[in-house]
Amino acid sequence: MNLGAQFALLVACIIVGGTLNVGYSAGTPAKSATITVGAGDDLRAIYATPQDIAEGKRLADSACARCHGANGISTAKGVPHLAGQRPGYLYRDLRAYQSGVRGDKAMDGAVRFLSDDALVKVAAFYASLDPAQPIAAGGAKAAPAKPDPLQAGKNAAASCGGCHGETGVSKTPGMPSLVGLDPKYFVAAMDAYKGGQRKHDLMKSMAVAARGADLSNIALYYALQKPARAQTPAAGNEAAGKTAAAGCAGCHGDEGVSGSPATPSLAGQDAQYFAAAMRAYKDGSRKDDTMKGLAAGLDERTVNDLAAYYAARQPQPPKVRKPMTTAEWAERCDRCHGINGNSTDPRSPMLAAQRADYLEKVLHAYRKGERKSPEMAAMSDALTEADVDNLASHYSRQKARAVVYVMVPGK
Ligand code: HEC
Ligand code: HEC
Ligand code: HEC
Ligand code: HEC
Repeated sequence: MNLGAQFALLVACIIVGGTLNVGYSAGTPAKSATITVGAGDDLRAIYATPQDIAEGKRLADSACARCHGANGISTAKGVPHLAGQRPGYLYRDLRAYQSGVRGDKAMDGAVRFLSDDALVKVAAFYASLDPAQPIAAGGAKAAPAKPDPLQAGKNAAASCGGCHGETGVSKTPGMPSLVGLDPKYFVAAMDAYKGGQRKHDLMKSMAVAARGADLSNIALYYALQKPARAQTPAAGNEAAGKTAAAGCAGCHGDEGVSGSPATPSLAGQDAQYFAAAMRAYKDGSRKDDTMKGLAAGLDERTVNDLAAYYAARQPQPPKVRKPMTTAEWAERCDRCHGINGNSTDPRSPMLAAQRADYLEKVLHAYRKGERKSPEMAAMSDALTEADVDNLASHYSRQKARAVVYVMVPGK
């Protein structure tokens, strides 16, 4: 689309003062019209003529093209494409740079001395250009999307299933079940093997091999599996164990389901592992002052009874929410950014076919609060590192489409 050649282009701008008149940049007498988009600010329309767009182009060629590319298609890392971007958004963004709130040295310098009229024209020029296409877009990542945390956790846990059971429900006496454990406890346990506070050569080597991100993904994977009791025998007396467990409930929960991430749940745990853990606390090979004191007074038989009691309790899922997939996230983002990132709201930027490196950079800036936007702050807070990468790559691969605003008479 190159509207500029034949037609006037509609630039939607935020009203700064509060007048609701439509301004025509060529000085035509105003007819009153207001665009109201969503529930927010009123926008007024400015019609940019081919002449305005030509002036915008002259300015862009001299002041912007060296960074943003000849046709608004950037070839530089971290510099966004501007071609086809929504004019109202471009204008607002330029004002934001001018006022210094975006805090980008390159851009602040480039726009500092431009008049408001020049900002409208250069916004109209870039909006009139054909958008970048995903294939031609230099920044589009060819790499396949990273698996979401849950899938990554499942993949990384492949080597654990042989001992701990595929879904963390142990089938081997002596091997702890991992299902029902809070991810914080899980990660702390792995760190304790790594650091030597918990002595177990094999688990140490497992913990050393698992990288930080993998570890939290594995913990998440087990936390989200269906809880079930370990499929292993228990030798002790359950009823006697129940009596002995009265003193444990305060920390480990009434039915062995702990309410605190620092204290492991015991419900459904393999009995042999349970007893071994108690012995380890007793002889000091597993260091924990609280548990050492408690274990010291228990004889072998009571320990087995406790093990039998807890093994028979029903484990519960820890309080962990299933993370959203990239597709689920994108559906939310599209509510403001348009179908596949093709925004129709003049205030929301088009994301389709934007450079992935720029999208990543900006999402991090929102997350860190360096770039402020009430809409985006809430959204980006909940994103993980992998979500940011995947969403950036998702939007950079979408086909960008021009927006068409249809003006209809007011009521
Ligand atoms: C020295 C290089 C440089 C020059 C010259 C430059 N820009 Fe930029 N521009 C950048 C960079 C880098 C960013 C990304 C900054 C950020 O992350 O906030 C950017 C961002 C932008 C954005 C934000 C786009 C978005 O999607 O949010 C707009 C609009 C923009 N530039 C317009 C212009 C215009 C118009 C000119 C000329 C008047 C210009 N730029 C000149 C480097 C430049
Ligand atoms: C060859 C068998 C084996 C494999 C493979 C294995 N583990 Fe273990 N794991 C054990 C044993 C045995 C223990 C109990 C060690 C102890 O007494 O502290 C254990 C303990 C644990 C614990 C502590 C549980 C608790 O309740 O405190 C966690 C967490 C754990 N393993 C995670 C993993 C992960 C994650 C993997 C895969 C990366 C893995 N394990 C692979 C045998 C194994
Ligand atoms: C004051 C709080 C508290 C009380 C009371 C308590 N525990 Fe614990 N227990 C803990 C904490 C904290 C841990 C984790 C310590 C660690 O990281 O090794 C733990 C760990 C355990 C473990 C190891 C679980 C695993 O997955 O490796 C067992 C078994 C256990 N406790 C059994 C008991 C029994 C049986 C009683 C009652 C006789 C009891 N605890 C009372 C706080 C408590
Ligand atoms: C409630 C509406 C809303 C939702 C939902 C939303 N955004 Fe935004 N987004 C905006 C607005 C408004 C802006 C412009 C804010 C500004 O100027 O900083 C924006 C800006 C952006 C930008 C900056 C683009 C540029 O060119 O500089 C990116 C990237 C972005 N959003 C990505 C996302 C992603 C990814 C999601 C989903 C996780 C999302 N947004 C969800 C409203 C929304």
